Amino acid sequence: MKIGIDKIGFYAPHLYVDMNKLAVARNVEPEKFTIGIGQEKMAVAPITQDPVTLAANAARTILDDEDKEKIDFVIFGTESGIDNSKSAAVYVHQLLGLNPNARSIEVKQACYGATAGIQMAKGYIALNPESRVLVLGSDIARYGLNTSGESTQGAGAVAMVISADPKILALEDKSAYLTADIMDFWRPVYSDKAFVDGKFSNEQYIHFFNTVWEQYKAKSDLGLNDFEAICFHLPYTKMGLKALRTVLEEADEADQERLLANYKSSTMYNRNVGNIYTGSLYLSLVSLLEQSDQLKDGARIGLYSYGSGAVGEFFTGILQPNYREYLQAESHAELFAARTEVSIEEYEAVFQETVPVDGSTVEFDATKDTAAIYLAGIKDNMRQYVNKSN
Ligand code: HMG
Repeated sequence: MKIGIDKIGFYAPHLYVDMNKLAVARNVEPEKFTIGIGQEKMAVAPITQDPVTLAANAARTILDDEDKEKIDFVIFGTESGIDNSKSAAVYVHQLLGLNPNARSIEVKQACYGATAGIQMAKGYIALNPESRVLVLGSDIARYGLNTSGESTQGAGAVAMVISADPKILALEDKSAYLTADIMDFWRPVYSDKAFVDGKFSNEQYIHFFNTVWEQYKAKSDLGLNDFEAICFHLPYTKMGLKALRTVLEEADEADQERLLANYKSSTMYNRNVGNIYTGSLYLSLVSLLEQSDQLKDGARIGLYSYGSGAVGEFFTGILQPNYREYLQAESHAELFAARTEVSIEEYEAVFQETVPVDGSTVEFDATKDTAAIYLAGIKDNMRQYVNKSN
């Protein structure tokens, strides 16, 4: 039985910062951000968007009534969760009006969370072929104003339906994974910003990639030339390129050209959104599928997932017949076109506006938020969500 991604969509908040302007404000050459880091625009989440609303907005446009009835498991990967007890999945389940006879949980391991969700979903569908699983990856990446990580912030979510006989990507069984206890990036529960050892995190990302890639080749007897494209977790778009370059010579010239061209397609959305942590690898997959005109049905795609701390995994999928018909390219193009640029001053003000942590009651002004689902305020320590489309 084939199991894999039947539907995939993403959502990014309606505000963004131009990286050229951020560079000028931070007194660095714009090329450092646009070439050295490889980012053009950075999505900025207003106070009315949190990981729950981002995920719900990503999912609402891909689900039809049959999905809502058949989804009986919601797995929410996030590292910017809003509650230590109640899972973000339960809120999304309610906001989307899913079948009450469902399981809903949150999964955490830095940017690896949604990949864990997909692997869990795959096993679940193998036992329950009639079911569908909604896997979400949603985060707001915050390092702080004027920090070296600032240029690698972002916000957004990816939603995927995992099912039997998937219409887009059938996941293959061979996979290679690795865990090691390292401190490259972490966020203690008392901090709303991440701590990071930037250079070390870059090294470990590549070390994990090289290790799981070698393991994968030994397990599968496949090589680089068996892949049409490889998608990477993209904290910033130069990162995946650095990792790809460490293995590129294993392929002949034509394959190298193809892999590099497809890499470029796989970074176009990320370049304009920034790091969305758990969703980043899958945003890259959406970008590849919607932006590459070279891919053909039956092509094998590699996926490298990395979550600091750290867990890495390399796994693969095969593009299904007529997969293009099931993508959301048009609505994603509209989403990008409808965004509003904010000045650096406006971005800094939005960044500093945070949800109160002292139990006070607040109502947020959501009149400018174009999203269907938003956070209206906090009352009695409970987040008040609104779905305008209901
Ligand atoms: P930095 O110190 O600001 O930048 O930190 P840099 O000095 O290393 O420069 C960056 C690149 O720009 C370099 O290229 C420069 O040469 C180049 P490289 O040598 O790396 O190829 N550069 C220029 N290029 C063109 N024209 C110029 C110019 N000037 C310089 N004029 C760093 C960068 C990424 C470390 C920082 O932003 C950071 O700490 N980010 C957060 C951590 C991160 O993203 N790590 C990535 C791997 S870990 C990961 O992916 C997991 C994560 O997603 C979290 C999770 O799992 O939950 C982060």
